[in-house]
Amino acid sequence: MTHSPVVALREITEVDRAAVEALTVSAEQDDYVAGVAESLVEAAETPDAAPWFRAVYADDEPVGFLMLSDGITVEHPDYLGPYFLWRILIDEHHQGRGYGAAALALAVTQVRSHPDARVLLTSAVPGAHSPLGFYLRHGFRRTGEVRDGEIVLELDLSDAGAPTT
Ligand SMILES: CC(C)(COP(=O)(O)OP(=O)(O)OC[C@H]1O[C@@H](n2cnc3c(N)ncnc32)[C@H](O)[C@@H]1OP(=O)(O)O)[C@@H](O)C(=O)NCCC(=O)NCCS
Repeated sequence: MTHSPVVALREITEVDRAAVEALTVSAEQDDYVAGVAESLVEAAETPDAAPWFRAVYADDEPVGFLMLSDGITVEHPDYLGPYFLWRILIDEHHQGRGYGAAALALAVTQVRSHPDARVLLTSAVPGAHSPLGFYLRHGFRRTGEVRDGEIVLELDLSDAGAPTT
């Protein structure tokens, strides 16, 4: 029987920070997502975007990174929210094993912990290696809005079709 790793979101510490920052996507996917180190800088520089970030672990191995706007309280033209899936990436060597879907479900659980959360927004650049299909497969729907060339998507958190852990 094959072992299915347990996927969990963990806080990034000084111990694993370098390993998490070293996670990479493929060259083709690189245009669609910023790296971990850049994301952490962005999080530090935009506290009013309510950044909430975690490493994605499969058992005891860091395999990915996820960042949300976890309840924006300010009006800001650059922010979509209050709940926005800002970044999700699974290292190229670990893709295709269900970790992205599991991490998304854990992110949904996090957002659902806020009683006021109704929808989780995200956006994606269309194209050959875009994550758009991943989002549509996991319950996100287009809102009809396009922002800076990115298709805006929303996941209805009251919907039974939303991913669960
Ligand atoms: C998108 C991403 C997070 C998916 O992670 P993953 O671990 O490979 O995905 P999973 O193995 O959990 O796939 C779950 C399902 O989604 C499908 N899927 C994965 N990526 C997909 C894509 N780009 N388009 C369409 N379907 C996709 C899989 O085929 C799988 O389908 P199944 O349930 O029928 O088997 C990963 O490909 C990635 O890191 N991409 C680069 C970074 C990126 O673009 N991030 C989003 C912008 S911030």
